[in-house]
Amino acid sequence: MTKKQKAPKGTLKKVLRYIKGYAPLTVISLMFAAVSVVLTLRIPLLCGEAIDCIVDQNNVDLQRIVALLTEVVICIICAAISQWLMNIINNKITYQVVRDIRKDAFDKIQILPLSYIDSHRTGETVSRVISDVDQFADGLLMGFTQLFTGMLTILGTLVFMLTISPGITAAVVVLTPLSLFVAAFIARRIHSMFVLRASTTAEQTAYIDEMIGGAKVVSAFGTREDAQRRFDEINGRLGDCTLKAIFFSSLINPCTRFVNTVVYTTVALIGSLAVIGFSGGAQVFFGAVTVGQLSCLLSYANQYTKPFNEISGVVTELQNALTCASRIFELIEAKPQLPDSENAVILRDPDGSVALDGVCFSYVPERKLIENLNLNVSAGQKIAIVGPTGCGKTTLINLLMRFYDVTEGSISMGSCEWEEKQDLREITRSSVRACYGMVL
Ligand SMILES: Nc1ncnc2c1ncn2[C@@H]1O[C@H](COP(=O)(O)OP(=O)(O)OP(=O)(O)O)[C@@H](O)[C@H]1O
Ligand SMILES: [Mg+2]
Repeated sequence: MTKKQKAPKGTLKKVLRYIKGYAPLTVISLMFAAVSVVLTLRIPLLCGEAIDCIVDQNNVDLQRIVALLTEVVICIICAAISQWLMNIINNKITYQVVRDIRKDAFDKIQILPLSYIDSHRTGETVSRVISDVDQFADGLLMGFTQLFTGMLTILGTLVFMLTISPGITAAVVVLTPLSLFVAAFIARRIHSMFVLRASTTAEQTAYIDEMIGGAKVVSAFGTREDAQRRFDEINGRLGDCTLKAIFFSSLINPCTRFVNTVVYTTVALIGSLAVIGFSGGAQVFFGAVTVGQLSCLLSYANQYTKPFNEISGVVTELQNALTCASRIFELIEAKPQLPDSENAVILRDPDGSVALDGVCFSYVPERKLIENLNLNVSAGQKIAIVGPTGCGKTTLINLLMRFYDVTEGSISMGSCEWEEKQDLREITRSSVRACYGMVL
């Protein structure tokens, strides 16, 4: 488990390497995010100014108010358009990254040694390429969209608030880390639950895949009820761990919301004291503010804390995305089969002679299978290999076609072009396989 919890650190770097190819698009997306944030933050400022234009019943600067409200409408429209453009670009980046990752995963499957395919369940590999990549895409998109705007909003509101009242801004800044602390505290605890959920999903996919692929065998041996029971067990476990992960991750939002409400209330209290000129201290510490400025500050306090909520949600989603990404990278980084040796020869015109010289092989070191097998087949000779099930007939074919390499000894093949037989490892794989006929 410790190894898995560590995985996301390196994973983030690998994800960034994929995104690097789309750096220009990322910069444009950031620019649109900045435009939409600045415009959105300008709205409370304009509204505050409009409020200050209403001094009393007989003192209302209507002309100024109309001008300010027109500007508000323009800001709203422009902010919406840039948000829309940002979303389009983010989708574009995400799905291109996803396409690249799937391509790399599939390319890797093509060059994986048979031992990998034999030792990993098909369904599990399918789940990595399909469902893990999908979940990763969801997280990445959310990260792009909300992390960008969230961080810019925090920065922007701070700047705007500072220009109105540095004292109140300081109060807000001191209180908000609480919300981050709460979010980080919970996020750390739920990571392992997401890891468990991803692996259980893969287990279920693999099982369904096996049961469909082997439907005939399941019916023939009358093990339908067994299969159903086993499925129910996995399904139940998946339900449990998903609920647990979702329950704990949904705790984050209410907790951070609570902290944010405390911040909002504090600003309202200090701000109103400053407005009415409470001489006991508020005005001295926090400076004088107008009613319009207070409305503006309240609005900013709200906008300032909102991204903390969203970011905490994004953190959960990103955790999940990184967990999924690390599972995909495990596949992408799996050791490919050894390439053909540099001076490998091409086998043309094989004469049919094969020699096995002291061949030893086992799939797992602990379980010895073939030991010191010697066999000399001359050109034109017909040989039948007979034996009880599990004695290693198919394994011998695997070795002859070089799906696996021998652990010790050597296999060599002859050709009409060569004087002597050549070791299988010195011949290109494709030319060896091309000269076999096989009926399964
Ligand atoms: N990919 C693998 N990983 C680990 N062990 C394997 C693998 N493939 C086969 N084995 C084991 O190696 C032994 C030999 O298997 P093999 O398939 O060569 O037998 P066989 O002689 O072809 O049997 P059959 O007559 O049933 O086809 C068996 O015990 C089998 O369980
Ligand atoms: Mg066999």
